[in-house]
Amino acid sequence: MMKKEMMTAKMEAKKIVVLLGSPRKKGNTAALADRIIAGAESAGAAAERIFLHGKDISPCQACYACQRSDSEGCAIDDDMQPIYNKLIEADGWVIASPVYWFCMSAQTKLFLDRCFALPAYKKDAFSGKRIAVAMSFGDDDAFNSGCVNALRTFQDAARYVGANLVGMVYGSADKPGEIQSNTALMMQAEKLGKKLAD
Ligand SMILES: Cc1cc2nc3c(=O)[nH]c(=O)nc-3n(C[C@H](O)[C@H](O)[C@H](O)COP(=O)(O)O)c2cc1C
Repeated sequence: MMKKEMMTAKMEAKKIVVLLGSPRKKGNTAALADRIIAGAESAGAAAERIFLHGKDISPCQACYACQRSDSEGCAIDDDMQPIYNKLIEADGWVIASPVYWFCMSAQTKLFLDRCFALPAYKKDAFSGKRIAVAMSFGDDDAFNSGCVNALRTFQDAARYVGANLVGMVYGSADKPGEIQSNTALMMQAEKLGKKLAD
């Protein structure tokens, strides 16, 4: 690589795409994600937020078109299409979801199912992809709330696709934004953001 090219590569900011799976734009998971973003930005990364709620994202229809060797991607033409490109281009992802009925929100799960098609756009799209997870729940316990079910899902999914699950932050909160009073958790989120941008 030429000296000038090396400098440009060095200066290029890491890209983080943030998938928000709550209908509350100023809710607890959004607050946690904001803090992860603050950490990542302090380490020189650039973040883009995508609010999944309100987007036209259909459930996977199990047509398996994305799994054919000559596939050009997901057969469903909806708001997930531009997201595939962003996921591929990003160095890291933040997935932020509230606990709904003892697992992740439906908005987040729709997104996750549709990621089945990601390798059709780029074969090794998941390999080593840096992922951070942020979750909040109303119960006061991560097990009773069902948060652990979702965290385990993310762990299994990351292992299956060969992604790098950098860390997970999660805590109890109910009213929108309440989670910000948990200063230890917010600090943990900021640290995770820095690690994500490493
Ligand atoms: C439809 C629905 C289902 C919920 N299910 C659970 C649950 O199973 N366990 C739990 O601890 N909290 C549950 N909650 C509470 C939310 O997880 C909690 O308020 C969370 O902080 C919301 O995050 P947000 O502000 O990012 O939306 C539920 C809330 C809603 C609206």
